[in-house]
Amino acid sequence: MNLLPQPQEVTLLEGTTTLLSPVRINAREWSDEVEAWAADLSKSTMIDFELVESEDADITFGFATDIEGYRLTIDGQVRIMCSWSDGAVQALTTLRQLGPTDLFSVERSPLTSFELPNCEIEDWPEFGWRGAHLDVARHFWDVETVERYVDLMVMHKLNVLHLHLNDDQGWRVEIPNWPKLTSIGAWRNGSPVGHEDDDVRDNVRHGGFYTRDDLERISRYCALRGVAVVPEIDLPGHAQAVLAAYPELGNNPEAQLEVWQHWGISDHVLNVSDEALQFAVEVVSYVASIFPNATVHIGGDECPTTEWESSHLAQAVMTEHGFESAQELQGLFTSRLCEVLEEAGHQVIAWDEVLDAEVPETTVIAAWRSVEKGIEAAERGHYVVMMPMQYVYFDWLSSDQPGEPIAVHPAPFVTTWEKTYSFEVVPTELDPTLRKQILGAQAQLWTEYITSRDRMDYMAFPRLSAFAEVVWGTSGDLDSFRPRLEAHLERLKSAGVKYRPLDTQ
Ligand code: ACM
Repeated sequence: MNLLPQPQEVTLLEGTTTLLSPVRINAREWSDEVEAWAADLSKSTMIDFELVESEDADITFGFATDIEGYRLTIDGQVRIMCSWSDGAVQALTTLRQLGPTDLFSVERSPLTSFELPNCEIEDWPEFGWRGAHLDVARHFWDVETVERYVDLMVMHKLNVLHLHLNDDQGWRVEIPNWPKLTSIGAWRNGSPVGHEDDDVRDNVRHGGFYTRDDLERISRYCALRGVAVVPEIDLPGHAQAVLAAYPELGNNPEAQLEVWQHWGISDHVLNVSDEALQFAVEVVSYVASIFPNATVHIGGDECPTTEWESSHLAQAVMTEHGFESAQELQGLFTSRLCEVLEEAGHQVIAWDEVLDAEVPETTVIAAWRSVEKGIEAAERGHYVVMMPMQYVYFDWLSSDQPGEPIAVHPAPFVTTWEKTYSFEVVPTELDPTLRKQILGAQAQLWTEYITSRDRMDYMAFPRLSAFAEVVWGTSGDLDSFRPRLEAHLERLKSAGVKYRPLDTQ
């Protein structure tokens, strides 16, 4: 069967079941999700799907409240039991994997029927947050490329898309009262050639941004496929593109900053005036309003305090609040944004640096610097999503061999797919009573060195496939995973994914 991620419980039955086009589906309350799935499948296979109400349909859905994931039975007919749309979507992905790899084809490959092995599967995810992050700031990706990434996430039962929407090198969302964020902040006049350390630029203008309509389209696309979008606006650091557009929000308003042409961490951050805080509240609230009920990411990583240390205003604000270190100033942003977003019904997540200043306990912590940061956050009472860079940052080298494409760090900072597969979402050192505070895990795709879809594929796969099984909660030993992964690569090939071969470059 070679399912990936491996389901929790599988019983193989005798024989096979063949579904003939038109495939009749009784989708019950999940007709929207089933229609999206059927439309995705028909695009290349030309198989017709019809929604019907009869109980003898080829595929029937049933409702059972005691099921967290799904139960799938194939024995002449396909029966799916679930209690919510996520279970329905998970079952449909399993069904697609049980068929021929052509069901994932992006090339025209007409089928009139497909065969499925008879079986019974009882399956559920161990973690509710199975995330994939995409950096659309360092390089801008159009809506179609984002949707394609979502398709690949769904193929792996990943369910949270984290969009990193701004950085020093570009602002990517149109905001009504702040037009220069996109007329100026969305465009940079050059990017590094080769590695940043080589200090060479291409002088080629790069940029782009999403309109509200674009983001609503992505949101709808994701919702129909069981994926929640987590939009991120990263402040008060990583703000050079903002300051290129609105210098008055910075610490040296006279400085003529450009949208940054370097990779790394710019020293230019927001100032700590009421106006800058209000700016942060306004733009983050606007982006949050595009995604009702979403968890919203307020960034908060890598905020250098160099400028604050020599700013009269920052020093005065520190005295006013009795702060001893400039780092504590970041807490003003964190607290204010959390307050406003929670008031509007959003859960808030932030990078783990927010732990170094005031942060409400309700803030979910994105533990990226190390496993220990995740443990610290859980011990301090936070919910945590584990994303330690050593295991799940796919801008790192895939191996230490000489032919690998340029990555963010040189060897020995290497993350092989085998290493990703060895990742344990719940750290063994964590006190078992805190286990429930680990919501799940997330893989990161930072795109400084990713300039094309093919490169995106190479860096993401097969590491994202390995990650998917880890965060589903059924990872085991490499010997049993590898043959399933090899079979799964055929699906990726069919889907046009230019993955990195398992052993060679
Ligand atoms: C990060 O990688 N700077 C969150």
